[in-house]
Amino acid sequence: MKESDIDFKNLILDNIREGIVLLDSESNFVFMNQEAENIIGVSSQRFKKDNDISLFDKQIGDLISSIKIDQKTKYINEIKIRDMFNKENIISVYVRPILNYENTSPELRHILIQFTNLEGMHLLNKKTKLDEEEELMSQLFYGLAHEIKNPLAGIKGAAQLINSQDKSSDTIKECSDIIEKEAVRLSELVNTFKHLQPHSSATFSETNINELLDEVINICSKEYKKKDVAIFVSFESEAVNILCDKELLRIVLLNIVKNAYDSIDTKGEIRISAKRIKDFKLNNKNLLQINIEDSGQGIKETEINKVFQPFYSTKKNGQGIGLFLSQKIINKFGGFIEVHSKTNGVVFRIYIPAN
Ligand SMILES: Nc1ncnc2c1ncn2[C@@H]1O[C@H](COP(=O)(O)OP(=O)(O)OP(=O)(O)O)[C@@H](O)[C@H]1O
Ligand SMILES: [Mg+2]
Repeated sequence: MKESDIDFKNLILDNIREGIVLLDSESNFVFMNQEAENIIGVSSQRFKKDNDISLFDKQIGDLISSIKIDQKTKYINEIKIRDMFNKENIISVYVRPILNYENTSPELRHILIQFTNLEGMHLLNKKTKLDEEEELMSQLFYGLAHEIKNPLAGIKGAAQLINSQDKSSDTIKECSDIIEKEAVRLSELVNTFKHLQPHSSATFSETNINELLDEVINICSKEYKKKDVAIFVSFESEAVNILCDKELLRIVLLNIVKNAYDSIDTKGEIRISAKRIKDFKLNNKNLLQINIEDSGQGIKETEINKVFQPFYSTKKNGQGIGLFLSQKIINKFGGFIEVHSKTNGVVFRIYIPAN
């Protein structure tokens, strides 16, 4: 057979490790490749015969129905689906509209569904995660040792002074102040780490984000008065309720707003907003996005990856725990925090699953 006789498109489609299914605008079956048959455990003959989207998992069927309404790409990060051998696989699914732009308003022509089997990636991720955890533990031990050593040195010095010849009441007062201050620092450190224990008690309840943001703004406006910093807030008018530990989320918001305030020299602004993201799902859940933007000094590109590391701080009196703790708390809620540079300052984006 000559090279020119080979149907390259079919050759690729039958060997690619991605499952592809094409439907027309009315969800009628058009095409599916070999990998799609393997992943969803239904043959193309059966699809051709039954021509029914309920052959897909219900969540995928829902995405197909919703794309007909808004014509926007949909994504499910991880769902479990049984293949033709009844083995459960973890897959990700993209459902994309293919639009016809010939008329004034684009029309839905086809629906393309793309499946990726995440099983192999899952094992790889697991190994990477273990390596990362080991690295994190060593950072933690190193940082903790450092944070404990400093106050201990202060306490030791103060005790030596009290034992020395000079026992004037002034010296004793000075030394006991040092001991008290350093003891408070140590106990704050212990309290912070309590939140990080894997089974520390997070009390999850329905939390109205708009109300919580109002509370945070109130606290900050009272506390942050030394500089000329305007704080603005905007959120979707409909109340956004999410399931989380309100006290812990308040700690996160206060940490990030405080950092924003610290980053501003004498005058600037902080903008806080919250909205629901409808087109992207994480573990089958919609996401709530809280943005905290500042017009501060910003973070150097070379440093931006370090800000969530424990004990990373560029401040004179910073412990470098605020963002590390915040990221861990949001991870507990099943979400994550990102940071991005802007022309002027930075924006922190908190993503939390919301239904
Ligand atoms: N909005 C921001 N603008 C500029 N730099 C920031 C901002 N937020 C965080 N950073 C940088 O990230 C570092 C780590 O922040 P993090 O909140 O973890 O610790 P910290 O504020 O230094 O100390 P603390 O433990 O008291 O919060 C900061 O020291 C600062 O260099
Ligand atoms: Mg901080």
